[in-house]
Amino acid sequence: NKPTYKEPYRPQFHFTPHHNWMNDPNGLVYYKGEYHLFYQYNPMGNTWGHMSWGHAVSADLVHWNPLALAIPEDDKNMIFSGSCVVDKNNSSHFAEKPNQVPLVAIYTAHIIPDKSKIDDYQQNQHIAYSLDDGRTWKKYEGNPVLDLNKKDFRDPKVFWYAPTKKWIMATVLPHEHLVQFHSSVDLKSWTHESDFGPAGDTNDIWECPDLLQVPINGQPGKSKWVLINSQQTTMQYFVGDFNGTRFQNENPTDTILRPDYGPDFYAGVTYNNLPAGQDPVLLGWANNWKYGQSIPTSPWRSALSVPRTLKLKKWGNAWVLLQQPVKALQSLRGPVTGWQNKTVNSVAIFPAKGQVLELDAELVPAKNANCGIRLAAGGGQSIIIGYEAASSKLYIDRSKSGNTSFDNQFTAWQYTSARVPLQEGKLRLHIFLDKSIMEVFANDGSTVLTAQLFPATGHDGIEFFSENGATRISTAKVWPMSPAWK
Ligand code: FRU
Repeated sequence: NKPTYKEPYRPQFHFTPHHNWMNDPNGLVYYKGEYHLFYQYNPMGNTWGHMSWGHAVSADLVHWNPLALAIPEDDKNMIFSGSCVVDKNNSSHFAEKPNQVPLVAIYTAHIIPDKSKIDDYQQNQHIAYSLDDGRTWKKYEGNPVLDLNKKDFRDPKVFWYAPTKKWIMATVLPHEHLVQFHSSVDLKSWTHESDFGPAGDTNDIWECPDLLQVPINGQPGKSKWVLINSQQTTMQYFVGDFNGTRFQNENPTDTILRPDYGPDFYAGVTYNNLPAGQDPVLLGWANNWKYGQSIPTSPWRSALSVPRTLKLKKWGNAWVLLQQPVKALQSLRGPVTGWQNKTVNSVAIFPAKGQVLELDAELVPAKNANCGIRLAAGGGQSIIIGYEAASSKLYIDRSKSGNTSFDNQFTAWQYTSARVPLQEGKLRLHIFLDKSIMEVFANDGSTVLTAQLFPATGHDGIEFFSENGATRISTAKVWPMSPAWK
């Protein structure tokens, strides 16, 4: 029963496992021409459980080559989220031959001493290493490498901080709303440096921290530090400085900024060890814990977002992330269909169709217009990407987008929005629709929304609409996208 990647709702250019459950991306690291992707994976079934690290590699972040399970669960502990580093100087002493470079994975061991009491667990940080470019992994005998004797303490993101020649680990204390920083010279013994938080959104527990340097758009050589974290159903970020010990937020504390304002972007983390000069790349889990385990897909569940490159810009008094889909996605484009200078008074049917496509449009709405695009349209159904010009509100409405009844939590999350001011009177919508996932990059990528949808086959129309005034479409382009699966 080999999966064909042609099942109903199967994304064609977003990463999905062949079969079974996946959640967070883990261990994102670039090494020897390969982008490694590890991910939270259940080798035994199509809902959360038996958490282990699945593995795939790619040369371009678009075509993925699935590999064998990398780090399986043990008798007593599951392998939760974490990261991977390239230990070029063999600081860990894991190398067995001269010039061997260990890849080291740092992850949370979720330990359940007595399986009849699954809520009596502990979490601490473990490491494993590979001496064959990530193909096989050995768990370190001296584990744990960091243990606070806590129930919840997880999701280590480790990176190399060159100025002090130290490894830095960011972890979360989820209920305390804290990101902790530890440092190490050998990845085995860790010293507490500082804590960040509580700050910003503390409505729910904190998970999956990441700290990274992001270049400032248009200012070569300049960058700032960005601290990212997840809160069960959404994410936030802070921008400021890191001195090897402490992160200092420089953004106003009264605005919460999110990498994604849609319902389906979580546990986003970035690549380690990218070639010098390459912008950071962020990957997220395109699902939501509230209903994620009941989405109507089989034999797999969950996809990852498209990889997104990151830059920063100053917007008002805050630094904001600019996200762009990786350029390599363009290699999947088929022949373009376009419009130019088209005025939409009520509804205009676009002369192309599809459920696997890229759309890039620039809209000039009348002052009070409610306008936008309906995708996967057919039989009175569609997902709506709308814009209310009077309130500068960009929204997604998936209440009539196909199968929405599999979970009442999904139904509860049918509408999401974000404030997106026009730029010189225009709204750019750069959209990726891939069967059951849609990602909307608005304007320069300063606002992004990701949402799942489960449309019927054949519901593949594209419509532009404008109510309460006309909208001029200065340009609209649509490319069918070919599958990235071999
Ligand atoms: C986030 C998360 C992490 C944890 C992992 C377990 O989605 O809850 O905090 O490490 O998933 O699968």
